[in-house]
Amino acid sequence: MNANNKGVHEVWASRWTFILAATGSAVGLGNIWKFPYITGENGGGAFVLVYLACILLIGIPVMISEVVMGKWGRSSPVHTMHKLVDEVGAPKFWHGIGWLGVIAGVIILSYYSVIAGWALHYFGQAISGNLQGIDGAGANLLFENLLAKPGMLVFYHSLFMLMTMAVVIAGVTRGLGRAVSVLMPVLLVLLVVLLIFSIRLGDFPAAFAYMFAFDFSALTGESILVAMGHAFFTLSIGMGAIMVYGAYMPEHAPIGKTVLTVAAMDTGVALLAGLAIFPLVFASADIEPATGPGLLFVSLPIAFGNIPAGLLFGMLFFLLVTLAAWSSSISLIEPAISWLVETGKGTRLQGGLVFGLLTWLLGLGTVFSFNLFSGPVIGNFNFFELADFLTSSVMLPLGGLLMALFVGWLMNKTILRSELDMDRDRVFYLWYNCLRWVSPLLVLWVFLEGLADILGIRWLSLIELLT
Ligand code: PHE
Repeated sequence: MNANNKGVHEVWASRWTFILAATGSAVGLGNIWKFPYITGENGGGAFVLVYLACILLIGIPVMISEVVMGKWGRSSPVHTMHKLVDEVGAPKFWHGIGWLGVIAGVIILSYYSVIAGWALHYFGQAISGNLQGIDGAGANLLFENLLAKPGMLVFYHSLFMLMTMAVVIAGVTRGLGRAVSVLMPVLLVLLVVLLIFSIRLGDFPAAFAYMFAFDFSALTGESILVAMGHAFFTLSIGMGAIMVYGAYMPEHAPIGKTVLTVAAMDTGVALLAGLAIFPLVFASADIEPATGPGLLFVSLPIAFGNIPAGLLFGMLFFLLVTLAAWSSSISLIEPAISWLVETGKGTRLQGGLVFGLLTWLLGLGTVFSFNLFSGPVIGNFNFFELADFLTSSVMLPLGGLLMALFVGWLMNKTILRSELDMDRDRVFYLWYNCLRWVSPLLVLWVFLEGLADILGIRWLSLIELLT
């Protein structure tokens, strides 16, 4: 096969190392913080169903192709795209996939770090006992107090950026990967413990009905766009993070099965987080499902404040959220760093400093959008909302669409088959046809629905027919 195509990078010992690294990237704030709050903002059930459908019909096929591209190119996303474009003789336009990812990664990390900073702050709050005996009103107040202090937010944002850059510069990704492989199962256990407490403390039937009763009338063009965007965000796809990790994939590995494992774990953690959070929300008169980005931070302290050993659980939980965010943040900046290092124009240290500073500065926009400049920047989006929308709902799906088209229509089918190591014809063609037809058409349709809804354009929308 592509023996001359081996990069400078070594290959992981087994596909399990890939699974750990990719899960470390995928499981993060997206699952624990973002999924519950956007579900609450978009009316629950039907939104969850659209998200799950997007994972299955778009996320998994695209993730498989992203891994294949990385495994084939064995370098940073920008250079992998150069190699692949040369190989298939496609126009230079397709290099854009690599660049789009570099830019999206920087923008996402800029706000990701601010939110991870909140988790750091709450870790401190849990230790200092400030969550003890707290109720809905108290939890709201605590969160509002944090948002009102830009200095504090900048401090924690800076701390998290320093943590991320330290790992990126030292290049000890695998050390962190190993740590994550121990901590992820602990996070999972903790979420189950939280779930049990939520069932006992909160209104579980209401939460369950909210998440799984499919009321399609709550769906709008914008909400299906957000759901699709989140499928990309939560799987870390469409921007090259998974491509970088695919670059270390051993030569013979069942990519399909591997990707399914990662996607299943990622989705499981998100659903668990939702099921742990919403019972508390519905049991408290002071918290609405549509609370917004603060949902996690105002609901869970109620559990920690009122259960036995809550101090310990609270501390552990926010520590684990921070760690999950940490292993994701590294993969957000890796496309940029690996590109710079491969060009020979800079070292990991220089890359870390330059991209770190840039990301940090951009993050200030998000910090201030929660206090000093909370007004809209474009349309009715404030800075944070704009950064989030632009990346999750536009850049990642666009990157994913381009990847699907590139792999589905331009790459050689025989090579794909051997790279994929899919021994069964049926499975290969299921993936291949989904990637060529279903995923791209779905992304395009959702883009159209979302755009029409946001711009207020009336057209015969399929959602209207559905609802
Ligand atoms: N998947 C991560 C999360 O859910 C975020 C992420 C997006 C990481 C894109 C890398 C690339 O938190």
